[in-house]
Amino acid sequence: MINLEVKNLNIKYRTRNGTVHAVKDASFFVRKKETLGIVGESGCGKSTTGHAVLRLLPPNALTDGEVVYNGSNILKYSNEKMRQLRGKDISIIFQDPMTSLDPIMRIRDHFFELIRAHNPKAKEEEMREMASNALESVGVSAKRLDNYPFEFSGGMRQRVMIALGITLKPSVLIADEPTTSLDVVVQEQIMGVLKDLKQTQDMSIILITHDLGVVAEVADSGVVMYAGEVVEYADVQNLYNNPLHPYTQLLLKSVPNIKIDDMELRYIPGSLPDLKNIPQGCRFKDRCPFVKDICSKKEPPIFKIDEREVRCWLYDK
Ligand SMILES: Nc1ncnc2c1ncn2[C@@H]1O[C@H](COP(=O)(O)OP(=O)(O)O)[C@@H](O)[C@H]1O
Ligand code: SF4
Ligand SMILES: [Mg+2]
Repeated sequence: MINLEVKNLNIKYRTRNGTVHAVKDASFFVRKKETLGIVGESGCGKSTTGHAVLRLLPPNALTDGEVVYNGSNILKYSNEKMRQLRGKDISIIFQDPMTSLDPIMRIRDHFFELIRAHNPKAKEEEMREMASNALESVGVSAKRLDNYPFEFSGGMRQRVMIALGITLKPSVLIADEPTTSLDVVVQEQIMGVLKDLKQTQDMSIILITHDLGVVAEVADSGVVMYAGEVVEYADVQNLYNNPLHPYTQLLLKSVPNIKIDDMELRYIPGSLPDLKNIPQGCRFKDRCPFVKDICSKKEPPIFKIDEREVRCWLYDK
């Protein structure tokens, strides 16, 4: 059963130097209790997409399209209705756990503030119980509720952020690069926390990451974004074992394998096109090993192959 669906999402940022078309015609959904990965290099429009779902974009962003949750398009909700939905139905955790916690507030007060914002009459005892449960479910002892953020390591802070994200038992959790600022060992631990939550909580997760390996590890399906567009959309086994889009294939090759000696990160040669001035044809054409004539003339549409989607002329029948 579909829990949240994004339909034909378009986002443009107005800037002094022109309009950045950050997301173009993106569509995907996440089912109840499933994890959807959104993957792509930096600047592909992943965070813009995730933040748009909760209407957290800055004022220079123009959003068009639909985000359907519980049968209605929440992009049309009033600000007050949206405020009630955030944290309670859909919550988000960000990349940097260092800046997301207030250094002068005890951990418990972060929880209390969140709970009171949705239930002003909540009693302290009840709030402690909710906070303790959330903390314990991410592997942090409830004893630490009275600590300050500086008393926690980066990985522990990210656990606290995840606990805050699930305190009100949301139906969808959006995690925007939750492990990017952490070291490799701690990254693995946080991925473990997300995997556990998937088993124990009745919740869908939208996991945003630049690492296709992470998607393969925890997600059920994946959306690959390139230069603001969804270029491939498939279940995770197919995406990982049989990627169709040339970009997905290259992304897969660039997944660092920590088990082998070679710790150097591999990158895809070339760079993203300028999103203020998008060239004609396929957005990936300058970096694609399979580029053909039509690629520089016409933008490829999405081709459907079985249950999968791919935006590439190679799949035109
Ligand atoms: N507030 C903003 N104003 C103008 N452009 C922005 C803003 N935020 C992001 N962008 C641009 O939108 C594009 C997509 O950014 P983003 O969604 O952050 O990508 P990702 O999360 O995949 O790294 C990038 O070209 C970025 O420079
Ligand atoms: S449409 Fe052409 S340039 Fe674009 S990814 Fe496919 S083959 Fe490569
Ligand atoms: Mg981002």
